[in-house]
Amino acid sequence: METCKLTLRGQEYELPVIEGTEGEIGIDIRKLKETTGALTYDPGYGNTASCRSSITYIDGEKGILRYRGYPIESLAGKFPFSQVAYLLIYGELPTPEQAREWRRELTLNSFIHQSMVNIFDNFPPNAHPMSILSSMIAAMPSFYPNYEKEDINTIIARIVGQAKTIAAYSYKKSIGEPYIYPRTDHSYSANFLRMMFASPAEEYFVPKVFEKALDLLLILHVDHEQNCSTSTVRMVGSSMANLYVSISAGISALWGRLHGGANEAVLNMLQMIYADGRNYKKYIELAKKKDSGFRLMGFGHRVYKNYDPRAKLLKEAVDNIFNEIGINDPLLEIAKDLEETALRDDYFIEKKLYPNIDFYSGILYRAMNIPTQMFTVLFSIGRIPGWIAHWLEMRNDPETRIHRPRQIYVGPKERLPHI
Ligand code: SDX
Repeated sequence: METCKLTLRGQEYELPVIEGTEGEIGIDIRKLKETTGALTYDPGYGNTASCRSSITYIDGEKGILRYRGYPIESLAGKFPFSQVAYLLIYGELPTPEQAREWRRELTLNSFIHQSMVNIFDNFPPNAHPMSILSSMIAAMPSFYPNYEKEDINTIIARIVGQAKTIAAYSYKKSIGEPYIYPRTDHSYSANFLRMMFASPAEEYFVPKVFEKALDLLLILHVDHEQNCSTSTVRMVGSSMANLYVSISAGISALWGRLHGGANEAVLNMLQMIYADGRNYKKYIELAKKKDSGFRLMGFGHRVYKNYDPRAKLLKEAVDNIFNEIGINDPLLEIAKDLEETALRDDYFIEKKLYPNIDFYSGILYRAMNIPTQMFTVLFSIGRIPGWIAHWLEMRNDPETRIHRPRQIYVGPKERLPHI
């Protein structure tokens, strides 16, 4: 076994080195504290591997993203979202028979428990749909209480199936319209769009171009190894908390604007620039000033120090779809101006800041008339299969222990109160 040496305060130690499929190496520090008395220090865990995983591989320098070994380019736009979700959760692409059964299972499990529908009525009309989504999924164990004994595959189909229904219902609730029910003759993406935009008075025939665009968006969001929300799902699940509340915790973590909330923040930023006379250069300069408190939303990434491959696919899709349906969106023009200028600017070049998945996704959602507040909900719906895959992998990993990081204490020394 390969080892490396550590010299600490005059003492030399040997630590095992482990290697991954693609040659990435890790120093195994599981015995560090007991052998050296020292901890490692890594705020934000940017240099820490929390687990071994076979789900997703990312190479940030080369802009590579693979799901279960398949390059994202070989899946996005070529398979329906439901089949890529199956791949992430079960490890292989489904056979045609498995695909039919899985799609039917998802639709039959798409209906929200009727008693849960009443909860919707108690949310205020302007409730943020992320608040509704995380609350409703956290409520599911109360309405399906047999979760300790029930077949995990039923729970999985229920969460994946109902997430889109909860999302569509939260939109209908916000506009005061009746809920629309899913249909078995519609794909996952088509069902979502139909439940969003059909009304009892008028059928909504889902444009194929929108169904394919939403499939692409959901597939590009399916997983991204140990990002903030996925690590949250693993951490919550490591305490033996059930899958429902682990997913709900992931939704909450994703909501932050530095993470999944960035797509909503990008749209708000583009609208602000548009309202400010389309003066995008002013905002590029603001983003470069640390004390401005302004960041170019949709730019930069902890792992990708090259163009996010998902952003590249999305930018192509936006151009194709906008040409096909003849949309001319000024916000897209502003986004392109921002990107072109930033990519030529030394600040962004030196810090290796490129557009990430959130930079173009909101523009595509907007083209489908999806309201801005729903963007991160759609990120969540896309990411749920990835979160489930990681939760299952964590639960089946013999190396899993309850997540309990340590700290370096810098508080006051022992003292007593003056009485
Ligand atoms: C997602 O982890 C994942 O995989 C996430 C995700 C997924 O699929 O799960 O890919 C989804 O969350 C994408 C990221 C969406 N967030 C945004 O677009 C928000 C804007 N970007 C950032 O705030 C930032 O780039 C992060 C949060 C994405 C990454 O933060 P890091 O890795 O902690 O980097 P950092 O904050 O340490 O920045 C490094 C430097 C800093 O300058 P210095 O302190 O070195 O002088 O780059 C600067 C930052 O100030 N910087 C930016 C910037 N992002 C980083 N400056 C201006 N605009 C930006 N967007």
